[in-house]
Amino acid sequence: MDLPIELKSASEKLVVGYKQAQLKKIAQDLSDRYRNESGVGKVLLSKDIEAAVYALVRMPATYGAVSDALKYALEYFDGSISTLLDVGAGSGAATWAASNQLELERITCIEREGAMRRVGETLMKEGNRVLANARWISSDLTTTKVTNSADLVVSSYVMNEMAKKDRQFVLDSLWNSAEKMLLIVEPGTPAGFSVLRDSREYLLSKGAHIVAPCPHESVCRLSENDWCHFTCRVQRSRIHKMLKDADVPYEDEKYSYMAFVKQECNRARARILRHPYIDKGQIGLEICTQNDNRSTVVRKKDGKLFKVARKAKHGDSIEIE
Ligand SMILES: C[S@@+](CC[C@H](N)C(=O)[O-])C[C@H]1O[C@@H](n2cnc3c(N)ncnc32)[C@H](O)[C@@H]1O
Repeated sequence: MDLPIELKSASEKLVVGYKQAQLKKIAQDLSDRYRNESGVGKVLLSKDIEAAVYALVRMPATYGAVSDALKYALEYFDGSISTLLDVGAGSGAATWAASNQLELERITCIEREGAMRRVGETLMKEGNRVLANARWISSDLTTTKVTNSADLVVSSYVMNEMAKKDRQFVLDSLWNSAEKMLLIVEPGTPAGFSVLRDSREYLLSKGAHIVAPCPHESVCRLSENDWCHFTCRVQRSRIHKMLKDADVPYEDEKYSYMAFVKQECNRARARILRHPYIDKGQIGLEICTQNDNRSTVVRKKDGKLFKVARKAKHGDSIEIE
């Protein structure tokens, strides 16, 4: 997966004139801050150059994660989506990802930090007409109820930055704003998944339905120390490799997600939870189904199912009872 070319070149333009060493230092400081100071509602960046470096370093991964999560959500969603509300939009990765898969007519982005808003808005001016006309709103989700609404509300890598005590207020506000779907994407870590597990429990109690990834709406069967997460592979640009001191031309982003919808919906019969184990003539799968979580083996004699399983990756749905 790769960023749209116009987004890639626009984000590289933001750091023209800066020395490599300066940019690397900013990237390193940001990475330390995101690792050590997240989850308590702290402001993690405030300068425009920091937001620009955030865009270069993190947008490919968050764009990839939202693209995958949205693709899985739309696989079983029976409706149309033409308006988007991206909350904690940052530099706009989730909006670009949604805009690539949906025929959007209206985009609204809510973001607390001025630096992120300026960078996000500048980048979107390089996109199509709807991206360029996106409405950017300055607001703090933890103190101000969202009054805008849209078919799809996306919160990508935001809730995990907030203090736990604020999340229920935000969740109520986002669910209220979503006319059809609320997609929450978080880092594929125990902390990221625990935000989703809590949100799942809370929104199910409010009458929400889950369109993906879960094949069921009962209590999540994963043990407390396990976490449901998937991986997407994204290309690294030359500048990304430089900023991260990376050798390989790609990075694997681990993410977790949950797509809630307002109406009863279809969903996967089963979801593949781990990398398939491929052996001669058989494929081992860890699956979550409507009734249980289990390991299963698909063999050549299973015909079409074997062909599907051979191409499947973890995160995919599969037609196994
Ligand atoms: C890790 S960034 C993710 C940005 C973008 N959604 C993405 O996926 O790349 C988190 C963003 O959420 C914003 N944010 C965090 N808490 C917020 C709050 N209480 N209200 C509004 N925005 C918030 C931050 O300023 C930051 O831009």
